[in-house]
Amino acid sequence: MSIPNQFRIDKQTHQSTYLVNGELKTWEGKTSNVYSTISSTDSYEPTCLGSIPNLTEKEALEALDAAGDAYNRGQGLWPTMKVEDRIACVEKFVEQMKTKREEVVKLLMWEIGKSLKDSAKEFDRTVDYIYDTIEAYKEMDRNAAKFHKHGGVYAHIRRGPLGIVLCLGPYNYPLNETFCLLIPALIMGNTAIFKPAKHGVLLITPLLEAFQNSFPKGVVNILFGRGRILATPIIATGRVDVLALIGHSNSANAIQASHPKKNRLRMVFGLEAKNPAIILPDADLDLTIAECINGTTSYNGQRCTALKILYVHESIIDVFKEKFSSAVDALKFGNPWEEGVQLTPLPEPGKPDYIQELIDDAKAHGAEVINEKGGERTANFIFPAVLYPVNKDMRVFHEEQFGPVIPIVSFKDIQHPLNDMAESNYGQQVSVFGTDIEILSPLIDTLVNLVCRVNLNSSCQRGPDVYPFTGRKDSAVATLSVKDALRSFSIRTFVASKDTTYNNQILSDLLNKKESNFISTDYIL
Ligand code: G3H
Repeated sequence: MSIPNQFRIDKQTHQSTYLVNGELKTWEGKTSNVYSTISSTDSYEPTCLGSIPNLTEKEALEALDAAGDAYNRGQGLWPTMKVEDRIACVEKFVEQMKTKREEVVKLLMWEIGKSLKDSAKEFDRTVDYIYDTIEAYKEMDRNAAKFHKHGGVYAHIRRGPLGIVLCLGPYNYPLNETFCLLIPALIMGNTAIFKPAKHGVLLITPLLEAFQNSFPKGVVNILFGRGRILATPIIATGRVDVLALIGHSNSANAIQASHPKKNRLRMVFGLEAKNPAIILPDADLDLTIAECINGTTSYNGQRCTALKILYVHESIIDVFKEKFSSAVDALKFGNPWEEGVQLTPLPEPGKPDYIQELIDDAKAHGAEVINEKGGERTANFIFPAVLYPVNKDMRVFHEEQFGPVIPIVSFKDIQHPLNDMAESNYGQQVSVFGTDIEILSPLIDTLVNLVCRVNLNSSCQRGPDVYPFTGRKDSAVATLSVKDALRSFSIRTFVASKDTTYNNQILSDLLNKKESNFISTDYIL
């Protein structure tokens, strides 16, 4: 098997430390090997990339203590620090992070099978997100640098941290989605414990030193090991204030259920979705096919925003099936670094079997695989299968497949997809393809009440990251965007004082002597 030199794994990464209380502690206990489903040999064995510590409850609770001490019941250095000083720490981190681009991008390809182009994009998008977060925080701070007066009471209102955050990210965006939680949580003055996803874990290790030397001790703690072993005991103490998780609602529900103080725990969740495309009779078919290909197959369908079911009007179903199937079969499968590759190995070893189960179940209930290559297997891949006609008796109709299988349903009456969406457990986004505004306008007016983003003649996506990313029902809790994330990880808190000479003198002194980090009307530029 020929792998270009620059992408070869010449040296395994045996991560033997974890970050707790500002110290990279050496682990001498059990470890787990990290494998890539991408092979380096002709006989197609998985590639061992290295290993990570298998930390236990003891280390998890040490990390919690460290985060607790750094927050120190609101008196810690970090939560009381001047905004500009916290910003300086994040700037120091991102400057060092940028120097690790090559290493992280290479590990992204090997660990999760993301193409070179998309891996580089994930890294760059994350760096941009951090800079945008800094700017958004400055703006938020400038907007708060004033006093309000109502009913004879002055108020100086800002957003303050919530406390200790437990941060758990997903394997499909192990850098971007995790940092889109972690960085806003930190910059707002919270302290954090972060456990990387099961796949996409070694790529965090080049950044450990940057975390260590950019933030005061205990502000960010990084653990390696199994989620259930580490996260559950941390939450069960009742000391965590925010559970930040991108993943499946089953994990979110199980972890959250262990928290004994239900109202203390704030939740910031990005969860699963079953985003539909609705293709109307007058849709521009070439544009629609291109968008649906991108929406269903980009990163092999392993995106929460992927199009996971296509509703096609019966008047165009035959031509759509034909064109779409040929377009799927024309996609190039290969290793992530190959030129023009669109489909790549699946990082979860059990995923091809799961997709096969969905295909077999759909066939047993009357669907066919309508593209020639659909379901073709290799050791670490299954070619996207386009299934038609799909109905409610099939698992693929209900389950978030998160992989290469594309169910198509034909409809006659628009009420059909609308009813299905209303009955679904999910409500993130929808794509609508069509041009007739007489049809589109009532449709859009309904769809905005069923999901949180209606994409007109384009596939679903999270970006641009300044736009709100959220969902209804089991698809999300709270809203993320550059600005909204800062809100989600903070709470409004303020100082109020009656308009008396006595109080006003104290406020003037506080402002002039710049003693308080909270009461300040300074502008950060
Ligand atoms: O997995 C869910 C991601 O947030 C999707 O983001 O639309 O940029 O791929 P994306």
